[in-house]
Amino acid sequence: MPGLYPFCAYLKYKRIASSKHGVHSPFVFDLVTKTFPADKTDYSNFTAELWRNECLSSTEEIDVTDFGTGTSGKRRVADIAKRAAKSPAAAQLLYRIVKRFAPKNILELGTSLGISTHYMHAGNPSANIITLEGCPQTAAKAQSGFTKHHINAKVITGDFSSTLQPALDEIRSVDLVYIDGNHRKAPTLLYFSLLKKYSHNDTVLIFDDIHWSAEMEEAWNEIKSDPDIHVSIDVFHFGIVYFRKQQVKEDFVLKW
Ligand SMILES: C[S@@+](CC[C@H](N)C(=O)[O-])C[C@H]1O[C@@H](n2cnc3c(N)ncnc32)[C@H](O)[C@@H]1O
Repeated sequence: MPGLYPFCAYLKYKRIASSKHGVHSPFVFDLVTKTFPADKTDYSNFTAELWRNECLSSTEEIDVTDFGTGTSGKRRVADIAKRAAKSPAAAQLLYRIVKRFAPKNILELGTSLGISTHYMHAGNPSANIITLEGCPQTAAKAQSGFTKHHINAKVITGDFSSTLQPALDEIRSVDLVYIDGNHRKAPTLLYFSLLKKYSHNDTVLIFDDIHWSAEMEEAWNEIKSDPDIHVSIDVFHFGIVYFRKQQVKEDFVLKW
């Protein structure tokens, strides 16, 4: 993760993150002891890693509109796989979270080549997954991977500002949402306010890159302070929130 802001944020995270010993909530203790730690699963044969390797060794170039940076032009698929996709370790944590909660309806904001989507599908193959991507050629490439590897995910192409609401209307109730695109404060808070309306007490919202920039840090602070959010967990790469109104409001910064 480049840049001075995330580097300083990482040093702060390392200083304040606590281990399982500081966790008194049974729900969070269970997560931190059973779901978060790397397990012995051999992930090398997961379609996600096969697809990542196919993309990394591809010589294909596609026309990319980068909604994150606002730039556009030709990019090598290999380069996108290297830079945009979640690292194996973080994507595998996402997989274990999906496996733990077995969400029926999953929504992803930011498909890119679909590597994280593959992992979420592996976590619960019977889940109904909708994934949103702004760049048409990137979405088409992701779709080719889903078709090839029999991943049950529907890709909707277009700016989140025009695709999120229809996707929510289609899915009606979300069980797990992974927000991994458009890492700016105002849009992130807008997505959060929309997602809240389609969430229930057990919905899990996972925000990527919460320490990417000062404005993402502000967005994360507002999200976790929201009165409807009772549990927030910061594992640096992800900010995970739960509604769980039966639980006393508490924020965790946890080693992972
Ligand atoms: C970091 S990548 C997603 C990586 C993917 N989740 C993975 O780990 O394999 C973010 C993606 O979000 C898309 N994106 C960013 N802002 C967007 C917006 N406003 N509308 C639609 N797509 C957007 C970008 O085009 C990019 O492909």
